[in-house]
Amino acid sequence: MHHFQYKGDELFAEEVAIKDIVAEVGSPVYIYSRATLERHFKAMDDAFAGAPHTICYSVKANSNLAVLKTFVNLGGGVDIVSGGELYRALAVGVDPKKVVYSGVGKRDDEIAYALKTGILMFNVESEQELDRINEVAGRLNKKAGIAIRVNPDVDPETHPYITTGLKKAKFGINIERALGQYQRAESMNNLEILGIDCHIGSQLTKVSPFVDAIKKLKRLLEGVRDMGIDVKYLDLGGGLGIQYNDEAPPLPADYGSSIIEETKDLGLHLLFEPGRNLVGNAGILVGRCLYTKQGEEKNFVIVDAGMNDLARPALYGSFHGVRPVVRNQSGVIEGDIVGPICESGDFLVKDREIPNFQPGDLIAFMSAGAYGFTMSSNYNSRPRVAEVMVDGKRFEVVRERETLADLVKGESVPTFL
Ligand code: LLP
Repeated sequence: MHHFQYKGDELFAEEVAIKDIVAEVGSPVYIYSRATLERHFKAMDDAFAGAPHTICYSVKANSNLAVLKTFVNLGGGVDIVSGGELYRALAVGVDPKKVVYSGVGKRDDEIAYALKTGILMFNVESEQELDRINEVAGRLNKKAGIAIRVNPDVDPETHPYITTGLKKAKFGINIERALGQYQRAESMNNLEILGIDCHIGSQLTKVSPFVDAIKKLKRLLEGVRDMGIDVKYLDLGGGLGIQYNDEAPPLPADYGSSIIEETKDLGLHLLFEPGRNLVGNAGILVGRCLYTKQGEEKNFVIVDAGMNDLARPALYGSFHGVRPVVRNQSGVIEGDIVGPICESGDFLVKDREIPNFQPGDLIAFMSAGAYGFTMSSNYNSRPRVAEVMVDGKRFEVVRERETLADLVKGESVPTFL
């Protein structure tokens, strides 16, 4: 459920007409609904009400400060994968003890930053990283909380680019080698073993892969406990899917009850790292039709938003629903909605039936709140677009549209030219 609905023929974000936002802020623009963000966070939090847990929102999905603050206000922690994400989360007052740090390539300076901040734990993704964290912690005279990110070799049955828990993936430590790494970690002076972690993939539309992964982790947990190591946290990552088109992912409540059932006797505090599920359907990208064009073989609607603004269709062939901001089109056509970028892969919609948009029409690309703005770039020297948050009848710009001057910020012509 989200709060982007028609009133009459006009698409609204909560109680604000989207055309009014564009009239003030321009297009393209990302628009987020606070009520939807809060609703999704609470649904996930409530799903685990029966177990000690913390929702550590995965910042990579949407790292705007307004979004982070929305979740922090509700008691959320964060899952980060860089020093930059930590900086953002701290800027909105996240409790450092609710921060988990994942990712295969943590640098020394990032490890040190996280240690000085006093984060809860590092999800360690390789044998060498374990040594590195121990060494940096020693230098700083700190103890680093760690979990080993285990690769359980479970197929999440999702897009190959967002499958992470298979043996062939670069992520985590193979479950068969994990016990040995717990043993090594136990012998290191500057580490405190706190948990076991896994994240098997993104946009999962079934509960069963999560349950399969937990079953494997439980066997590992037994071994770890047999070594006398007292683990407190079980981090189950993110990955619960959303409806983009006709998928029917489990509701958070169903995901929650299956996981609680599977973990209830373990005596562990559960951690979750949802990204997409909280923000995906809480955001849209709005663009304007510039031209229409009848190609030799098909119809094109050319808009002012491109793959640099929303990369998912180009990168994964992903589906985003399309809605006219004002429903005044007559009929439908079959074709593509494409951007201004000089690449054939620059499409937002491919080979679909779409309203017969005309130049000037505003188009909402739905379900763009996750991995939309965060994956956007300046390709083709296009300033990144504005972001707006709506709250009931009001809205505010939460990131200004970049200017032409922003495009060259930090660049210089060398003295020898
Ligand atoms: N935890 C870890 C360690 C992750 O790598 C990810 C996502 C998450 C949590 C959050 O997963 P979520 O709940 O959002 O599924 N750009 C792709 C998705 C990449 C996901 C990367 N990792 C897309 O646009 O579909």
